[in-house]
Amino acid sequence: MMPDPSQPRIQADTVIRNIRQLVTIAQQPITEAAGQLQIISDAAIAVHHGEIVWIGHDDEAEPMFQHDTTGKPREITIIDAQGAVVTPGLVDSHTHLVFAGDRAEEFHLRRSGVSYGELLAQGRGILTTMQATRSADTETLTELATTRLNSMRLHGTTTVEVKTGYGLDKITEETCLRIINNLNAMEAIPANQRSRVRVVPTFLGAHSIPPEYRSNRGAYIDLIVEEMLPSFVGLAHFCDVFCEREAFTLEESRRILTRAKELGYKLKIHADQLSASGGAQLAAELGATSADHLDFASDADLDAMREAGVVATLLPGCSYTLRSPYPSARRLLDRGLSVALATDFNPGTSYCENMQMILGLAMSSMGMTLEEALAASTINGARALALHEQTGSIEVGKRCELAFWSITDYHEIGYHFGVNLIQSVLIS
Ligand code: NIG
Ligand code: FE
Repeated sequence: MMPDPSQPRIQADTVIRNIRQLVTIAQQPITEAAGQLQIISDAAIAVHHGEIVWIGHDDEAEPMFQHDTTGKPREITIIDAQGAVVTPGLVDSHTHLVFAGDRAEEFHLRRSGVSYGELLAQGRGILTTMQATRSADTETLTELATTRLNSMRLHGTTTVEVKTGYGLDKITEETCLRIINNLNAMEAIPANQRSRVRVVPTFLGAHSIPPEYRSNRGAYIDLIVEEMLPSFVGLAHFCDVFCEREAFTLEESRRILTRAKELGYKLKIHADQLSASGGAQLAAELGATSADHLDFASDADLDAMREAGVVATLLPGCSYTLRSPYPSARRLLDRGLSVALATDFNPGTSYCENMQMILGLAMSSMGMTLEEALAASTINGARALALHEQTGSIEVGKRCELAFWSITDYHEIGYHFGVNLIQSVLIS
């Protein structure tokens, strides 16, 4: 087919061809997503300076982009998807990637009946990882985090939020924030890729009260509010708080997040995970971008979140690891919330880099359809990071951040489990 010279030509520097099935996740609220995914068979995507400029059928791509009006071949990069299924790159909007040590011992202790809350109250849990993290040097922490980031990429993730929260003093929190900001420079980029996983830094100094402030917790809150928050402006996009019986009270959380908001941080909350903490209501009150966990959130809490436009992030890796009941995603979806899924990668409650596992758990144990789980792992993850204008779906005008799956139909996702279905990712 010769190009139609009356059509304005779209400028592209790259064309991705031979896509068996393109799952675009074109922007729509998750509640409408069920069964409404836009699927294009035998598709191609054209990209210019990393931005998607055209999506169409593969047979249209050659005349449109590979030749000029005289039929002469153009200089353009052609990427052969080799018949892969292509979705947006996965967005993991909640991780604790920077830490040293592990907590295998606690994992096995819990299997004999000790609870996560008990361990936390005894000064273990997060504080065990804090000790290991404070003792590690920057190089070691960077290397550990980089290895984890590469593993996430190999499992299809192209955007990752990364929290601090295992330093719990000003120096170590700042070191961890700098490591997060530098992570991309360290990432091992495969030769065929031009760009890097997008990393979004979050300050979570309010993860646990460190031992030196145990008898004077007010002084730790002062330290966060008066010293850490003002000096970390620009190093972190989000401020998060673990609002929980064993961690920070509702009032402490309100004080920290209110100050963070004044300083220009966007907000997240670990809310209502182990008990009804009031965190979800606080997220609504302060206009947080997301509230995460929500195992114990009431219907009224969820309604307040919906009205305030707070994304509900569910983290089934925690229920899997803690062997606690899975929160019902169905309940949230039926109340009209935007639901995101994330790994919560951390050494205590979810030691898993793989979003495919999370998607599978959401379908098997939280009542999500494949379409809802896919939207929750892409566009709604992007919403949970306030990046939905740039990523999370395959649409003209968005960044080209793609996951290539070695499957023949997207319905294999969640069905074929326990193996890595990702062939590669492309971030251009
Ligand atoms: O999201 N809940 C608080 N933070 C993590 C657990 C961190 C840890 O146990 O090290 C979570 O589950
Ligand atoms: Fe977490």
